[in-house]
Amino acid sequence: MISKILKQVPFFKGLTGKEINHILSIARERNCKPDEMIFLKAEIGNHFFIVKSGRVKIFTSIGTEKKKTFAFLKKGDFFGEMSLLGGKIRSASAQAVEPTELLVISRRNFKELILKNADFTLKLLHTLTIRLNNANKDVESMLFHNILGRLAEAIIGLSKNKHSSPVKIKIDQNELAQYMGTTRVPVCRAISTLKRSRVIDYKRGQLIVLNPARLKSIAGTSI
Ligand code: CMP
Repeated sequence: MISKILKQVPFFKGLTGKEINHILSIARERNCKPDEMIFLKAEIGNHFFIVKSGRVKIFTSIGTEKKKTFAFLKKGDFFGEMSLLGGKIRSASAQAVEPTELLVISRRNFKELILKNADFTLKLLHTLTIRLNNANKDVESMLFHNILGRLAEAIIGLSKNKHSSPVKIKIDQNELAQYMGTTRVPVCRAISTLKRSRVIDYKRGQLIVLNPARLKSIAGTSI
């Protein structure tokens, strides 16, 4: 049953039923409550995680004020591989945003999976390439874009893999500011500007993309 669900998510597409069953046989399950910390930045990493359901926030913080959200991960996404592959300590913190079910794989089984299952390893590398690309775009956006361009970029990033039309994103203004690596006030102002020009709508923690073409052009041109 779970293997059927997993086969529908991108990370597992292409893996055979046997390969998925093998992953399931070496994983244990962990259920997290909303806001539960899964691990903290700088802890020693001993496990690899796959999101079976729910949503996980990957973030870093400096002091109590400054937070930067790197990603929101959903069903089929994985995390926790970096400390197992090299760094030893966690490069970021992970927190459940809503009720979340995880598959947890030990360091030893993860290494064995990488060595023995080329499809799994290719999928892993593919995702890491996408994450590196996103991180490069983030740096570019922070260096070269004004706040409006950064907001547009952030919304486009959060819209990926959302197939509803219009795209709807559930996120509050604090979360959005943390995703952009900035504070709430400038983000509020930028949201108002995009609302006034009917590029987006935003109410009660839900952002709706009304004009995706204009949003793209703002992300690409506002230097
Ligand atoms: P690890 O360093 O073990 O623990 C934190 C995890 O967050 C890390 O492994 C990655 O799996 C994940 N992570 C770190 N940076 C990013 C990012 N920019 N995008 C998505 N996931 C990330």
